[in-house]
Amino acid sequence: MVNFLLVGNGAREHAIAESICKNKKARLFAFVSANNPGIVRLCQESGGKAKIGDIHSPSQVLEFALQNGIELAFPSPDAVLAAGVSDALLEAGIPTAAPTKEAARLEWDKAYCRWLLRKHKVGGLPKFEIFEEEKKAHDFIDSLEGQVAVKPSGLTGGKGVKVSGYHLKDTAEAKDYASYLLKEKISGLATIVVEEKLEGEEFSLQAFSDGKKVYGMPMVQDHKRAYEGDIGPNTGGMGSYSGKGMLLPFATTKHYNEAIRIMQQSIDAFRKETGKPYVGVLYGGFMITASGVKLIEYNARFGDPEAMNVLPLLEDDLLLLFEQMASGKIAKKPRFKKKATVCKYLVPEGYPAKSLTDQPLYFDLQKIKKSKAKMFYASVYEKDGVIYTQSSRSIAFVGIADSISQAERVAEAACSAVSGKVWHRKDIGTAQLIQKRIDHLKSLGAI
Ligand code: AMP
Ligand code: GLY
Repeated sequence: MVNFLLVGNGAREHAIAESICKNKKARLFAFVSANNPGIVRLCQESGGKAKIGDIHSPSQVLEFALQNGIELAFPSPDAVLAAGVSDALLEAGIPTAAPTKEAARLEWDKAYCRWLLRKHKVGGLPKFEIFEEEKKAHDFIDSLEGQVAVKPSGLTGGKGVKVSGYHLKDTAEAKDYASYLLKEKISGLATIVVEEKLEGEEFSLQAFSDGKKVYGMPMVQDHKRAYEGDIGPNTGGMGSYSGKGMLLPFATTKHYNEAIRIMQQSIDAFRKETGKPYVGVLYGGFMITASGVKLIEYNARFGDPEAMNVLPLLEDDLLLLFEQMASGKIAKKPRFKKKATVCKYLVPEGYPAKSLTDQPLYFDLQKIKKSKAKMFYASVYEKDGVIYTQSSRSIAFVGIADSISQAERVAEAACSAVSGKVWHRKDIGTAQLIQKRIDHLKSLGAI
Protein backbone atom coordinates (compact mmCIF):
# COMPACT_ATOMS: atom_id res chain seq x y z
CA MET A 1 0.00 0.00 0.00
CA VAL A 2 1.07 3.61 -0.61
CA ASN A 3 -0.07 6.20 1.92
CA PHE A 4 -0.97 9.17 -0.26
CA LEU A 5 -1.73 12.66 1.05
CA LEU A 6 -4.00 15.07 -0.78
CA VAL A 7 -4.31 18.63 0.55
CA GLY A 8 -7.47 20.48 -0.49
CA ASN A 9 -11.17 19.78 -0.75
CA GLY A 10 -12.81 21.21 -3.88
CA ALA A 11 -14.32 19.37 -6.83
CA ARG A 12 -10.89 19.44 -8.47
CA GLU A 13 -9.48 17.59 -5.47
CA HIS A 14 -12.40 15.13 -5.54
CA ALA A 15 -11.43 14.34 -9.15
CA ILE A 16 -7.75 13.95 -8.17
CA ALA A 17 -8.75 11.67 -5.28
CA GLU A 18 -10.89 9.53 -7.57
CA SER A 19 -8.07 9.10 -10.09
CA ILE A 20 -5.57 8.22 -7.36
CA CYS A 21 -7.93 5.64 -5.88
CA LYS A 22 -8.18 3.80 -9.20
CA ASN A 23 -4.89 2.32 -8.07
CA LYS A 24 -5.93 -0.18 -5.43
CA LYS A 25 -2.56 0.22 -3.71
CA ALA A 26 -3.42 3.81 -2.79
CA ARG A 27 -4.50 4.55 0.75
CA LEU A 28 -5.94 8.06 0.61
CA PHE A 29 -5.38 10.60 3.39
CA ALA A 30 -6.80 14.08 2.94
CA PHE A 31 -6.06 17.24 4.86
CA VAL A 32 -9.03 19.51 4.22
CA SER A 33 -10.62 22.77 5.30
CA ALA A 34 -14.12 21.24 5.06
CA ASN A 35 -15.36 17.68 4.69
CA ASN A 36 -15.97 17.12 0.98
CA PRO A 37 -18.33 14.11 1.09
CA GLY A 38 -16.76 12.54 -2.02
CA ILE A 39 -13.21 12.79 -0.70
CA VAL A 40 -14.20 11.55 2.76
CA ARG A 41 -15.84 8.49 1.20
CA LEU A 42 -12.76 7.67 -0.90
CA CYS A 43 -10.55 8.00 2.20
CA GLN A 44 -12.77 5.59 4.10
CA GLU A 45 -13.01 3.08 1.26
CA SER A 46 -9.24 3.02 0.72
CA GLY A 47 -8.41 2.64 4.42
CA GLY A 48 -7.14 6.20 4.97
CA LYS A 49 -8.80 9.17 6.60
CA ALA A 50 -9.61 12.85 6.21
CA LYS A 51 -8.85 15.54 8.76
CA ILE A 52 -10.07 19.11 8.94
CA GLY A 53 -7.42 21.73 9.72
CA ASP A 54 -5.71 24.81 8.40
CA ILE A 55 -4.59 23.61 4.97
CA HIS A 56 -2.40 26.71 4.61
CA SER A 57 -0.35 25.81 7.68
CA PRO A 58 2.78 23.87 6.64
CA SER A 59 3.29 22.62 10.20
CA GLN A 60 -0.28 21.29 10.55
CA VAL A 61 -0.11 19.51 7.19
CA LEU A 62 3.30 18.05 8.05
CA GLU A 63 2.10 16.83 11.43
CA PHE A 64 -0.81 14.99 9.78
CA ALA A 65 1.58 13.54 7.18
CA LEU A 66 4.03 12.28 9.78
CA GLN A 67 1.27 10.82 11.96
CA ASN A 68 0.01 8.80 9.00
CA GLY A 69 3.25 7.60 7.45
CA ILE A 70 2.68 9.50 4.21
CA GLU A 71 4.84 8.24 1.35
CA LEU A 72 3.72 10.60 -1.41
CA ALA A 73 2.00 13.98 -1.18
CA PHE A 74 0.04 16.27 -3.48
CA PRO A 75 -0.79 19.70 -2.06
CA SER A 76 -3.25 21.01 -4.60
CA PRO A 77 -4.65 24.61 -4.29
CA ASP A 78 -2.65 27.73 -5.19
CA ALA A 79 -2.68 29.36 -1.75
CA VAL A 80 -1.47 26.09 -0.17
CA LEU A 81 1.53 26.05 -2.52
CA ALA A 82 2.20 29.74 -1.92
CA ALA A 83 2.17 29.07 1.84
CA GLY A 84 5.08 26.64 1.46
CA VAL A 85 3.31 23.37 2.25
CA SER A 86 5.36 21.43 -0.35
CA ASP A 87 8.57 22.79 1.13
CA ALA A 88 7.68 21.53 4.62
CA LEU A 89 6.85 18.06 3.26
CA LEU A 90 9.99 17.89 1.12
CA GLU A 91 12.23 19.05 3.97
CA ALA A 92 10.85 16.18 6.04
CA GLY A 93 11.83 13.79 3.24
CA ILE A 94 8.30 13.14 1.94
CA PRO A 95 8.19 12.80 -1.87
CA THR A 96 5.90 15.57 -3.14
CA ALA A 97 4.55 15.94 -6.67
CA ALA A 98 3.82 19.68 -6.43
CA PRO A 99 5.90 22.84 -6.74
CA THR A 100 7.83 24.40 -3.90
CA LYS A 101 6.90 27.91 -2.81
CA GLU A 102 9.72 29.24 -5.00
CA ALA A 103 8.53 27.31 -8.07
CA ALA A 104 4.88 28.23 -7.45
CA ARG A 105 6.00 31.85 -7.64
CA LEU A 106 5.27 31.52 -11.36
CA GLU A 107 1.64 31.73 -10.22
CA TRP A 108 1.64 33.77 -7.01
CA ASP A 109 3.82 36.60 -8.35
CA LYS A 110 2.79 37.66 -11.86
CA ALA A 111 5.51 40.32 -11.99
CA TYR A 112 8.20 37.73 -11.22
CA CYS A 113 6.78 35.35 -13.80
CA ARG A 114 6.74 37.95 -16.58
CA TRP A 115 10.22 39.21 -15.58
CA LEU A 116 11.69 35.71 -15.58
CA LEU A 117 10.20 34.75 -18.94
CA ARG A 118 11.30 37.96 -20.61
CA LYS A 119 14.83 37.62 -19.22
CA HIS A 120 15.09 34.11 -20.69
CA LYS A 121 13.49 35.09 -24.00
CA VAL A 122 10.49 32.79 -23.69
CA GLY A 123 8.06 33.22 -26.61
CA GLY A 124 4.40 34.24 -26.55
CA LEU A 125 4.59 37.20 -24.15
CA PRO A 126 2.31 40.19 -24.65
CA LYS A 127 3.76 43.69 -24.35
CA PHE A 128 3.94 44.38 -20.60
CA GLU A 129 5.68 46.33 -17.87
CA ILE A 130 5.93 45.96 -14.10
CA PHE A 131 5.26 48.96 -11.86
CA GLU A 132 5.55 50.16 -8.31
CA GLU A 133 5.02 53.81 -9.18
CA GLU A 134 1.74 55.37 -10.20
CA LYS A 135 3.09 57.93 -12.70
CA LYS A 136 5.06 55.35 -14.70
CA ALA A 137 2.05 53.01 -14.79
CA HIS A 138 -0.16 55.82 -16.07
CA ASP A 139 2.34 56.71 -18.79
CA PHE A 140 2.47 53.10 -19.95
CA ILE A 141 -1.34 52.89 -20.03
CA ASP A 142 -1.30 56.00 -22.23
CA SER A 143 1.31 54.46 -24.51
CA LEU A 144 -1.04 51.48 -25.05
CA GLU A 145 -3.90 53.91 -25.73
CA GLY A 146 -5.79 52.56 -22.77
CA GLN A 147 -6.21 49.06 -24.27
CA VAL A 148 -4.80 47.18 -21.31
CA ALA A 149 -5.09 44.46 -18.71
CA VAL A 150 -4.21 45.71 -15.22
CA LYS A 151 -3.15 43.03 -12.76
CA PRO A 152 -2.13 42.90 -9.13
CA SER A 153 0.93 40.62 -8.91
CA GLY A 154 -0.27 38.34 -6.13
CA LEU A 155 -3.12 35.85 -5.70
CA THR A 156 -6.67 37.22 -5.69
CA GLY A 157 -8.68 34.09 -6.43
CA GLY A 158 -8.94 35.10 -10.11
CA LYS A 159 -10.79 38.29 -9.25
CA GLY A 160 -8.05 40.94 -9.35
CA VAL A 161 -7.44 41.36 -13.10
CA LYS A 162 -9.36 44.06 -14.97
CA VAL A 163 -9.39 44.43 -18.73
CA SER A 164 -10.37 47.37 -20.96
CA GLY A 165 -13.70 46.93 -22.63
CA TYR A 166 -14.90 44.44 -19.99
CA HIS A 167 -14.27 45.92 -16.56
CA LEU A 168 -12.49 49.14 -17.48
CA LYS A 169 -14.55 51.64 -19.47
CA ASP A 170 -11.74 53.92 -20.63
CA THR A 171 -8.15 55.06 -20.06
CA ALA A 172 -9.15 57.03 -16.96
CA GLU A 173 -10.67 53.94 -15.33
CA ALA A 174 -7.60 51.88 -16.19
CA LYS A 175 -5.38 54.48 -14.52
CA ASP A 176 -7.65 54.71 -11.50
CA TYR A 177 -7.55 50.94 -11.10
CA ALA A 178 -3.74 50.90 -11.37
CA SER A 179 -3.54 53.63 -8.70
CA TYR A 180 -5.98 51.75 -6.48
CA LEU A 181 -3.95 48.52 -6.73
CA LEU A 182 -0.67 50.31 -6.03
CA LYS A 183 -2.17 51.96 -2.98
CA GLU A 184 -4.25 49.13 -1.53
CA LYS A 185 -1.96 46.20 -2.45
CA ILE A 186 -5.02 43.90 -2.46
CA SER A 187 -2.93 40.86 -3.37
CA GLY A 188 -0.33 41.48 -0.67
CA LEU A 189 2.42 42.30 -3.18
CA ALA A 190 3.62 45.83 -3.99
CA THR A 191 3.93 45.46 -7.76
CA ILE A 192 1.36 45.49 -10.56
CA VAL A 193 1.62 44.29 -14.14
CA VAL A 194 0.11 46.32 -16.98
CA GLU A 195 -0.04 44.65 -20.36
CA GLU A 196 -1.50 45.12 -23.78
CA LYS A 197 -5.06 43.86 -24.12
CA LEU A 198 -5.08 40.72 -26.23
CA GLU A 199 -7.98 39.76 -28.48
CA GLY A 200 -8.76 36.14 -29.16
CA GLU A 201 -9.98 32.90 -27.62
CA GLU A 202 -8.58 31.53 -24.41
CA PHE A 203 -7.65 27.93 -23.69
CA SER A 204 -6.13 26.14 -20.73
CA LEU A 205 -3.31 23.71 -21.17
CA GLN A 206 -2.28 21.61 -18.20
CA ALA A 207 0.95 19.63 -18.18
CA PHE A 208 2.80 17.24 -15.92
CA SER A 209 6.36 18.41 -15.26
CA ASP A 210 9.16 16.31 -13.80
CA GLY A 211 11.44 19.33 -13.81
CA LYS A 212 13.06 18.46 -17.13
CA LYS A 213 10.18 17.99 -19.52
CA VAL A 214 6.51 18.97 -19.70
CA TYR A 215 3.91 16.45 -20.87
CA GLY A 216 0.68 18.08 -22.04
CA MET A 217 -2.89 17.04 -21.32
CA PRO A 218 -5.90 17.78 -23.58
CA MET A 219 -6.70 21.47 -24.16
CA VAL A 220 -9.71 22.76 -22.22
CA GLN A 221 -11.77 25.94 -22.38
CA ASP A 222 -13.13 27.35 -19.13
CA HIS A 223 -15.99 29.86 -18.75
CA LYS A 224 -15.12 32.47 -16.16
CA ARG A 225 -18.09 34.81 -16.54
CA ALA A 226 -21.12 34.03 -14.42
CA TYR A 227 -23.95 34.25 -16.94
CA GLU A 228 -24.92 32.75 -20.28
CA GLY A 229 -23.37 34.45 -23.29
CA ASP A 230 -20.21 35.27 -21.28
CA ILE A 231 -21.56 38.22 -19.39
CA GLY A 232 -21.69 39.16 -15.71
CA PRO A 233 -19.08 39.04 -12.99
CA ASN A 234 -16.00 36.82 -13.02
CA THR A 235 -16.23 33.56 -11.12
CA GLY A 236 -13.90 30.70 -10.23
CA GLY A 237 -15.15 29.07 -13.48
CA MET A 238 -18.72 28.00 -14.33
CA GLY A 239 -17.77 25.02 -16.46
CA SER A 240 -15.49 23.84 -19.21
CA TYR A 241 -15.22 21.54 -22.18
CA SER A 242 -12.63 19.61 -24.14
CA GLY A 243 -12.76 18.13 -27.63
CA LYS A 244 -12.20 14.55 -28.70
CA GLY A 245 -8.42 14.18 -28.80
CA MET A 246 -6.07 16.86 -27.52
CA LEU A 247 -7.52 19.91 -29.33
CA LEU A 248 -10.43 22.32 -29.00
CA PRO A 249 -12.67 22.91 -32.04
CA PHE A 250 -11.06 26.29 -32.78
CA ALA A 251 -7.46 25.19 -32.27
CA THR A 252 -4.87 23.35 -34.35
CA THR A 253 -1.94 21.08 -33.53
CA LYS A 254 0.27 24.08 -34.26
CA HIS A 255 -1.43 26.05 -31.46
CA TYR A 256 -1.06 23.08 -29.11
CA ASN A 257 2.63 22.61 -29.91
CA GLU A 258 3.31 26.33 -29.60
CA ALA A 259 1.78 26.37 -26.09
CA ILE A 260 3.84 23.31 -25.08
CA ARG A 261 6.98 24.98 -26.43
CA ILE A 262 6.28 28.08 -24.30
CA MET A 263 5.73 25.89 -21.21
CA GLN A 264 8.91 23.91 -21.83
CA GLN A 265 10.91 27.12 -22.30
CA SER A 266 9.39 28.42 -19.06
CA ILE A 267 10.42 25.49 -16.86
CA ASP A 268 13.86 25.63 -18.50
CA ALA A 269 14.02 29.36 -17.66
CA PHE A 270 13.10 28.61 -14.04
CA ARG A 271 15.83 26.00 -13.79
CA LYS A 272 18.44 28.28 -15.38
CA GLU A 273 17.51 31.13 -13.07
CA THR A 274 17.30 29.22 -9.79
CA GLY A 275 19.22 26.00 -10.40
CA LYS A 276 16.10 24.14 -9.27
CA PRO A 277 13.49 22.08 -11.12
CA TYR A 278 9.82 22.95 -11.54
CA VAL A 279 8.08 19.77 -10.38
CA GLY A 280 4.31 19.42 -10.47
CA VAL A 281 1.38 20.31 -12.65
CA LEU A 282 1.83 23.48 -14.69
CA TYR A 283 -1.28 25.16 -16.08
CA GLY A 284 -0.90 27.70 -18.84
CA GLY A 285 -3.72 30.13 -19.59
CA PHE A 286 -3.24 30.98 -23.26
CA MET A 287 -4.97 33.03 -25.91
CA ILE A 288 -5.04 32.32 -29.64
CA THR A 289 -4.65 35.71 -31.31
CA ALA A 290 -4.02 36.98 -34.81
CA SER A 291 -0.32 37.07 -33.94
CA GLY A 292 -0.17 33.52 -32.59
CA VAL A 293 -0.47 31.89 -29.18
CA LYS A 294 0.08 34.26 -26.24
CA LEU A 295 0.61 33.40 -22.59
CA ILE A 296 -1.85 35.08 -20.23
CA GLU A 297 -0.75 33.47 -16.98
CA TYR A 298 0.55 30.38 -15.24
CA ASN A 299 -0.99 28.41 -12.43
CA ALA A 300 1.20 26.02 -10.49
CA ARG A 301 -1.57 23.42 -10.16
CA PHE A 302 -4.50 21.77 -11.90
CA GLY A 303 -7.30 24.07 -13.01
CA ASP A 304 -10.69 23.96 -11.40
CA PRO A 305 -12.83 22.95 -13.35
CA GLU A 306 -10.24 21.87 -15.97
CA ALA A 307 -8.90 18.98 -13.86
CA MET A 308 -12.33 17.36 -14.10
CA ASN A 309 -12.20 17.36 -17.91
CA VAL A 310 -8.84 15.68 -18.23
CA LEU A 311 -8.36 13.37 -15.24
CA PRO A 312 -11.24 11.00 -16.06
CA LEU A 313 -9.62 10.56 -19.50
CA LEU A 314 -6.15 9.71 -18.20
CA GLU A 315 -5.30 6.16 -19.23
CA ASP A 316 -2.20 5.95 -17.07
CA ASP A 317 -2.00 5.48 -13.35
CA LEU A 318 -2.02 8.93 -11.65
CA LEU A 319 -0.39 7.57 -8.48
CA LEU A 320 2.52 6.23 -10.51
CA LEU A 321 2.74 9.42 -12.52
CA PHE A 322 2.90 11.50 -9.32
CA GLU A 323 5.58 9.14 -7.95
CA GLN A 324 7.61 9.61 -11.10
CA MET A 325 7.13 13.38 -11.09
CA ALA A 326 8.27 13.57 -7.48
CA SER A 327 11.35 11.49 -8.26
CA GLY A 328 12.26 13.69 -11.24
CA LYS A 329 11.58 11.38 -14.19
CA ILE A 330 8.30 10.71 -15.96
CA ALA A 331 8.99 7.43 -17.74
CA LYS A 332 6.64 7.80 -20.69
CA LYS A 333 4.21 10.24 -22.20
CA PRO A 334 0.84 10.06 -20.41
CA ARG A 335 -2.05 8.97 -22.64
CA PHE A 336 -5.65 10.15 -22.64
CA LYS A 337 -8.83 8.51 -23.93
CA LYS A 338 -10.06 10.10 -27.16
CA LYS A 339 -13.33 11.45 -25.79
CA ALA A 340 -14.95 14.86 -25.54
CA THR A 341 -15.97 16.22 -22.13
CA VAL A 342 -18.26 18.91 -20.77
CA CYS A 343 -18.17 20.00 -17.14
CA LYS A 344 -20.95 22.11 -15.63
CA TYR A 345 -20.98 23.59 -12.17
CA LEU A 346 -24.13 23.99 -10.12
CA VAL A 347 -23.68 27.12 -8.01
CA PRO A 348 -25.79 28.60 -5.20
CA GLU A 349 -28.41 31.22 -5.99
CA GLY A 350 -26.76 34.63 -5.68
CA TYR A 351 -23.29 33.27 -6.60
CA PRO A 352 -20.70 34.82 -6.89
CA ALA A 353 -21.59 38.01 -4.98
CA LYS A 354 -24.15 36.85 -2.41
CA SER A 355 -24.45 33.08 -2.38
CA LEU A 356 -27.36 31.52 -0.53
CA THR A 357 -25.61 29.19 1.88
CA ASP A 358 -26.91 26.27 3.97
CA GLN A 359 -29.53 25.34 1.38
CA PRO A 360 -30.41 21.63 1.03
CA LEU A 361 -29.89 19.95 -2.33
CA TYR A 362 -31.99 16.99 -3.46
CA PHE A 363 -30.57 14.47 -5.87
CA ASP A 364 -32.54 12.19 -8.20
CA LEU A 365 -29.87 9.53 -7.96
CA GLN A 366 -31.48 7.25 -10.51
CA LYS A 367 -31.59 10.00 -13.09
CA ILE A 368 -27.95 10.92 -12.39
CA LYS A 369 -26.94 7.28 -12.76
CA LYS A 370 -28.87 7.01 -15.99
CA SER A 371 -27.19 10.15 -17.36
CA LYS A 372 -23.76 8.48 -16.89
CA ALA A 373 -22.31 11.82 -15.83
CA LYS A 374 -19.53 11.91 -13.27
CA MET A 375 -20.36 13.87 -10.16
CA PHE A 376 -17.83 15.79 -8.09
CA TYR A 377 -18.62 17.53 -4.82
CA ALA A 378 -17.27 21.05 -4.36
CA SER A 379 -18.23 23.56 -1.68
CA VAL A 380 -20.94 21.56 0.12
CA TYR A 381 -21.29 19.74 3.40
CA GLU A 382 -23.29 16.75 4.52
CA LYS A 383 -25.47 16.75 7.61
CA ASP A 384 -27.72 13.83 8.57
CA GLY A 385 -27.41 12.47 5.06
CA VAL A 386 -28.42 15.73 3.36
CA ILE A 387 -26.08 17.86 1.23
CA TYR A 388 -26.08 21.64 1.87
CA THR A 389 -24.59 24.56 -0.09
CA GLN A 390 -21.74 26.76 1.11
CA SER A 391 -20.75 30.07 -0.46
CA SER A 392 -18.71 28.78 -3.41
CA ARG A 393 -19.50 26.43 -6.32
CA SER A 394 -21.52 23.41 -5.16
CA ILE A 395 -21.45 20.37 -7.46
CA ALA A 396 -19.81 19.64 -10.80
CA PHE A 397 -21.11 17.18 -13.39
CA VAL A 398 -18.93 15.94 -16.20
CA GLY A 399 -20.30 14.36 -19.36
CA ILE A 400 -17.90 12.18 -21.35
CA ALA A 401 -18.85 11.13 -24.89
CA ASP A 402 -17.76 10.91 -28.51
CA SER A 403 -18.64 14.52 -29.26
CA ILE A 404 -18.87 17.74 -27.29
CA SER A 405 -22.62 17.97 -28.03
CA GLN A 406 -23.25 14.50 -26.65
CA ALA A 407 -21.12 15.25 -23.59
CA GLU A 408 -23.07 18.48 -23.12
CA ARG A 409 -26.37 16.59 -23.08
CA VAL A 410 -25.01 14.15 -20.51
CA ALA A 411 -23.91 16.97 -18.18
CA GLU A 412 -27.19 18.80 -18.71
CA ALA A 413 -29.27 15.68 -17.90
CA ALA A 414 -27.37 15.30 -14.63
CA CYS A 415 -27.74 18.99 -13.71
CA SER A 416 -31.50 18.74 -14.16
CA ALA A 417 -31.57 15.87 -11.66
CA VAL A 418 -30.65 18.18 -8.77
CA SER A 419 -33.21 20.41 -7.14
CA GLY A 420 -32.64 23.15 -4.63
CA LYS A 421 -31.49 26.75 -4.68
CA VAL A 422 -28.76 26.29 -7.29
CA TRP A 423 -28.34 27.23 -10.96
CA HIS A 424 -25.90 26.62 -13.80
CA ARG A 425 -24.94 27.92 -17.24
CA LYS A 426 -26.89 26.00 -19.85
CA ASP A 427 -24.83 27.29 -22.77
CA ILE A 428 -21.46 25.71 -21.92
CA GLY A 429 -20.51 23.13 -24.53
CA THR A 430 -23.42 23.93 -26.86
CA ALA A 431 -22.81 24.01 -30.61
CA GLN A 432 -23.98 27.62 -30.70
CA LEU A 433 -21.42 28.85 -28.19
CA ILE A 434 -18.60 26.90 -29.81
CA GLN A 435 -19.51 28.33 -33.23
CA LYS A 436 -19.30 31.79 -31.69
CA ARG A 437 -15.71 31.05 -30.62
CA ILE A 438 -14.78 29.86 -34.10
CA ASP A 439 -16.44 32.87 -35.75
CA HIS A 440 -14.66 35.18 -33.32
CA LEU A 441 -11.22 33.85 -34.27
CA LYS A 442 -12.12 33.92 -37.96
CA SER A 443 -13.19 37.54 -37.68
CA LEU A 444 -9.81 38.38 -36.13
CA GLY A 445 -7.98 36.52 -38.89
CA ALA A 446 -6.48 34.26 -36.23
CA ILE A 447 -7.57 31.01 -37.91
P1 AMP B 1 -5.15 36.16 -15.22
O1 AMP B 1 -5.42 36.12 -13.76
O2 AMP B 1 -3.84 36.80 -15.58
O3 AMP B 1 -5.39 34.85 -15.90
O4 AMP B 1 -6.30 37.05 -15.86
C1 AMP B 1 -7.66 36.73 -15.67
C2 AMP B 1 -8.40 36.89 -16.95
O5 AMP B 1 -8.24 38.21 -17.45
C3 AMP B 1 -7.88 36.00 -18.09
O6 AMP B 1 -8.44 34.72 -18.05
C4 AMP B 1 -8.31 36.78 -19.30
O7 AMP B 1 -9.66 36.55 -19.58
C5 AMP B 1 -8.16 38.21 -18.86
N1 AMP B 1 -6.84 38.74 -19.27
C6 AMP B 1 -5.68 38.67 -18.58
N2 AMP B 1 -4.68 39.24 -19.27
C7 AMP B 1 -5.20 39.69 -20.42
C8 AMP B 1 -4.68 40.39 -21.56
N3 AMP B 1 -3.39 40.75 -21.64
N4 AMP B 1 -5.52 40.68 -22.55
C9 AMP B 1 -6.83 40.33 -22.50
N5 AMP B 1 -7.38 39.69 -21.46
C10 AMP B 1 -6.59 39.36 -20.44
N1 GLY C 1 -10.13 27.55 -14.12
C1 GLY C 1 -9.24 28.55 -13.72
C2 GLY C 1 -8.34 28.20 -12.63
O1 GLY C 1 -8.31 27.09 -12.15
O2 GLY C 1 -7.60 29.06 -12.20
